[in-house]
Amino acid sequence: MARVLITSALPYINGVKHLGNLVGSQLPADVYARYLRARGHEVLFICATDEHGTPAELAAAKAGEPVADYCARLWQVQKDLADGFALSFDHFGRSSSTRNHRLTQHFAGRLADAGLIEEISERQVYSIDDGRFLPDRYIEGTCPNCGYPRARGDQCENCTKQLDPTELIEPRSAISGSTNLEVRETKHLHLRQSKLRDELRAWIAAKTDWPLLSTSIALKWLDDGDGLQDRGITRDLDWGIPVRRGTEPWPGMEGKVFYVWFDAPIEYIAATAEWADATGQPDAAWQRWWREDLGASDVRYVEFMGKDNVPFHTLSFPATILGANFDGAEPWKLVNYIKSFNYLNYDGGKFSTSQGRGIFMDQALGILPSDYWRWWLMSNVPEGNDSNFTWESFQAGVNKDLADVLGNFVSRVTKFAHARFGATLPGTPPTEPSSPTCLADFSEWSPAERAVAEDLARRIAAYEANLEAMELRKAAQELRAIWVVGNEYLQSAAPWTAIKTDPARAAAITRFAFNLIRLYAVLSRPFLPDTADRMLAALGLADADWPTDLEAALRALPAGHGFEVPPVLFAKLDDTRRAELETRFAGV
Ligand code: MF3
Ligand code: ZN
Repeated sequence: MARVLITSALPYINGVKHLGNLVGSQLPADVYARYLRARGHEVLFICATDEHGTPAELAAAKAGEPVADYCARLWQVQKDLADGFALSFDHFGRSSSTRNHRLTQHFAGRLADAGLIEEISERQVYSIDDGRFLPDRYIEGTCPNCGYPRARGDQCENCTKQLDPTELIEPRSAISGSTNLEVRETKHLHLRQSKLRDELRAWIAAKTDWPLLSTSIALKWLDDGDGLQDRGITRDLDWGIPVRRGTEPWPGMEGKVFYVWFDAPIEYIAATAEWADATGQPDAAWQRWWREDLGASDVRYVEFMGKDNVPFHTLSFPATILGANFDGAEPWKLVNYIKSFNYLNYDGGKFSTSQGRGIFMDQALGILPSDYWRWWLMSNVPEGNDSNFTWESFQAGVNKDLADVLGNFVSRVTKFAHARFGATLPGTPPTEPSSPTCLADFSEWSPAERAVAEDLARRIAAYEANLEAMELRKAAQELRAIWVVGNEYLQSAAPWTAIKTDPARAAAITRFAFNLIRLYAVLSRPFLPDTADRMLAALGLADADWPTDLEAALRALPAGHGFEVPPVLFAKLDDTRRAELETRFAGV
């Protein structure tokens, strides 16, 4: 049994996330967490909202709410949607928590003690009318690179060039639109990441088992030198974590806060502390996941994220972790494996919040239950390349995989059995729980059942290997192939024919098919948790173990076991409905 810490990139607080965000970290992390739990490993799965920075302040201003209220409200919205998608976080925290305030200030203090923090006087744009500095997205203007008129202070959306606010042409305040701006000197803290360049390079070079997407992005930043330029970790904002050096004030930094990308990854740790608090456990309970010296040396830490997040998780956050251990006194856990994803597009283009293009998590759940989405998203997870959502492809996933294969199998088996044998599995029930009747059952297997068991053994091994390796798209394909085996068996064993001449054989086929339903529920649960529960409920079961002993698993339900015919597992998506959805989500 292993101990695995799993984190998913923290969604920004500024609104409901779209399906591209979901499939880029939280959903695949959930599939992996569910799989490992099913295999009996000790798993801690952590996520939180990322609540600081200018996007949060601007979204709150737009909503006409104080930013703290806005964040509290949106946290609940995101938490409910996470529950709606059956994301099995052990804790869904908030980067604005007291725990994160303390830890972020603590890390800053340690980095200062390490000599890795420099106080720099920089030139920042100040808005005289707004009475404040305009960092990052608070300032807009024309891009000096491509001429796009609505470039933001930190980056041009059009040409993606990273910008410095002072570079913008005809700059204006994003708050008031005022152009009454001037450049003022202000003092900020810089993290001297460049001092850790060699250590980080060696650390990443050793990660030969990581996806290329993770290491290549990291090395590109290291080699360009770009990602390891010393970076500002403070901002002139009100909303955020006040700059302190540990528990002490930081002279000259009064009224400033830490930069959102400094405190956000520290929230992975803080959210684990929030989890311990919420479950009434002492500090030791979260420290044993995060501190090598306090029990975390046998923890495997896996992070899930979109590719745009890779530089922060391969360089910046590790720089914080390594830097804080300069004297060997605080060995915090470094990530062991980074699973990163490409982008999901919507019908050939980008998802766009402002243009209402694409599908957002709340809308998706209003259309169909979460398992329909989970299945399409995971069987098209953008692992090797970007992937593309189309309603046609979604319709095919629902109709051809879920309804025609899995749903159809369950429905044919349960309906046939109920019509011909009643509400219990046919055959002679075992006389005592562990009687040899089950074994007899096994000896009754014909070559057909044996062939199915052999085929399944191979496929389940491949499925497990794919899940272990986090090759999730391949795992989904293998799972579908496992469902197909059942349909093909049913088709060729044809109990509806056998019953006319050999009722005992028809009964044996039926029992075997019911055991396949049970097996499929267990195997499908990482991808389709709600459906798996419904399948098990139809068999009168609350839970079932992973089939480490496949033959035993295929004989688990004996003759006499009660069942119900479940309601249709998956409704098909017809062409009219598909066309309607296509139009509705085309964007304005
Ligand atoms: N909020 C960021 C995004 O959506 C991700 C932050 S991950 C963190 O891109 F760990 F650093 F918080
Ligand atoms: Zn540009």
